[in-house]
Amino acid sequence: MTHDVTRRSILGGSAAVCLVVPAGADAQSSAQKKSSKANGSKNVSVQLIVNGEPRSLAVDPRTTLLDALREHLQLTGTKKGCDQGQCGACTVMVDGRRINSCLTLAVMHDGESVTTIEGLGEATHLHPMQAAFVKHDGYQCGYCTPGQICSSVAMLREIEDGVPSHVTQDLSRVTFSDTEVRERMSGNICRCAAYANIVAAIRDVAEGQS
Ligand code: FES
Ligand code: FES
Repeated sequence: MTHDVTRRSILGGSAAVCLVVPAGADAQSSAQKKSSKANGSKNVSVQLIVNGEPRSLAVDPRTTLLDALREHLQLTGTKKGCDQGQCGACTVMVDGRRINSCLTLAVMHDGESVTTIEGLGEATHLHPMQAAFVKHDGYQCGYCTPGQICSSVAMLREIEDGVPSHVTQDLSRVTFSDTEVRERMSGNICRCAAYANIVAAIRDVAEGQS
C-alpha cells in the first residue's frame, strides 16, 4: 500500500485554514471566567462580525482581539507569536484593514467586521493568496503563514488604493514591485525565512496568475 502524503499536502491544508477546535476550549473559557472574577473585573459585551457572521462575546475589557478570537471564538488560525506587535503572526483584517490583533482590545472593535484566515478560504476552496502560497512553498513550519496571508491580501488592496509606503518613489503613482512588497510586508516575520517564496506568491496574485 502506498501513502501519497507529502510535506506540501500536509502544510497546504494547515496553511489554508485552521478549523480544528481544541478539545480544551470550553475548559479554557471557563477558566478565564473564573480568573476574571478573581481579578474583580467585570465582563463587557462585544458584538463583532467575524468572517461574515455576527458573534456576541462577554469578555474582560482587557481581552485583546487576538485572545477573543483564539480563546473565546476558538478561531485558532490566527497565531500568537510575540504578543507585543513585533512579529505579525496575529495579523487579521478589521473592516478590510490589516492590524496586529495582539495590540488592540476586542472592546475597541464593537460592531466592526473581522476577517481571519478561516474567513478567506477553505481547504477545498482556497483564496487565491492561499493557493499561491501553496504553489510557491511560501512557508516551512507554517506558523507565520495565516498572518502573512491576511497581511498580503490587505497589502495588495493598499497598493490598489494608492497608499504609498516608505519606499514609494512617485507618490502620485503607487505601483506593485518586489521592493514595495518587501517593505510593506516587513512587519510579518518568518523565522523559517521563506521570504523569497512569499514574495513570489504575492507577485503571482498581483499579476493575476493565481
Ligand atoms: S503576536 Fe501580534 S505581532 Fe506578534
Ligand atoms: S513558515 Fe515558519 S515562521 Fe514562517
